[in-house]
Amino acid sequence: MQISQKYLKMSNNFYNGVSLKTRVLKTEQSSEAITEAAKLLRDGQVVAFPTETVYGLGANALSETAVAKIFEAKGRPQDNPLIVHISKFEQINYLVRSLPDEALILAEKFWPGPLTLVLPASDVVPQIVTAGLKTVGIRMPDHKVALDILNECELPIAAPSANISGRPSPTTAMHVLEDLDGKIPLIVDGGAASVGIESTVLDLSGKIPVILRPGGVTFEKLKEILGNVLIDKSVMNFLEDDEIPASPGMKHMHYAPIAQMIVVRGDCENVKQRIKELSQEYIKQGKKVGVLATAETIGQYSDGCEIISVGTRLRPESIAANLFASLRHFDRLLVDVILAEGIDTENEGLAVMNRMLRASGFCLIDV
Ligand code: TXA
Ligand code: MG
Repeated sequence: MQISQKYLKMSNNFYNGVSLKTRVLKTEQSSEAITEAAKLLRDGQVVAFPTETVYGLGANALSETAVAKIFEAKGRPQDNPLIVHISKFEQINYLVRSLPDEALILAEKFWPGPLTLVLPASDVVPQIVTAGLKTVGIRMPDHKVALDILNECELPIAAPSANISGRPSPTTAMHVLEDLDGKIPLIVDGGAASVGIESTVLDLSGKIPVILRPGGVTFEKLKEILGNVLIDKSVMNFLEDDEIPASPGMKHMHYAPIAQMIVVRGDCENVKQRIKELSQEYIKQGKKVGVLATAETIGQYSDGCEIISVGTRLRPESIAANLFASLRHFDRLLVDVILAEGIDTENEGLAVMNRMLRASGFCLIDV
């Protein structure tokens, strides 16, 4: 595996734990991986496993000491709450204080699937999971391996994305290994995640549902069912130091490649033109440039830079599926600067642009 020196340094900086031997077990050949994962989870250990969105790093959501191991392995800030994963709808009754009608309707329509519902937490949910909030995020993943593990261990499982905090979320077992090798006992390899970006986080604890993080279940789909749904300001805007985010995670640096990333947004022709100009400028400065292009534009960039087509503009979900893997790929190529084409924010495009803006630290050029 090829990992840059810069990255190794970064990973070591975050690492406080004792080095473990990390096993990677594939699910295709046998059920050993599921049995082993369930056993470790019941023993209070952490396990990385696939979901349809990204790989998660799970632990028993009801055990404070087990959940603490997630924070330690990831180097995750304590003020960022975790999503609790369930495999049977009835489990929700134990975890929440009240269940609004919207939650029932949405779960019926979108679970299992990439939608997290934020609801008033019951007393059984430890503070470390909610980061001291009165609410808890819950979702039922749409992935056979995840559901098999949840069913076999018979526990609600708290699981953030299985990356070092701040890095692009992992969509393959290899990405998890890049970040967490030696820090966790087991990675269950169930192939590449299909959605590629994390679930939509929808806050149902107030009067009007609010999207705290856009994802695979889009604003348009939610609006069709709920009628009224808001998008939190932090989804597309940089929050100043004195602003309190509705979702603590939105304050932290996220999804960032090692390379500097710049998002160029606007009319497609202007975007291409500006990226061409910028790439020439950076190349003149002796920098290695990566261009995150789309199927529609990839043929139009000149030599001298690394170019990836992340997907087609006609299907933003195809861009979502490849986005994080592309950022990690650029890091392996040791590029200094990533110039990314912005896309329209309709449907899955909103989630893609939310991730791109955060990955770039809101380094945005409008053309
Ligand atoms: O698709 C996903 O959601 C993946 C897979 C593994 O399920 N998980 C994931 O977890 O993305 P994580 O920890 O990387 O992101 C959880 C997000 C954070 O932005 C966090 O702030 C927000 O959900 N969140 C969790 N509980 C919350 C709560 N009670 N109130 C507000 N935001 C919450
Ligand atoms: Mg995450």
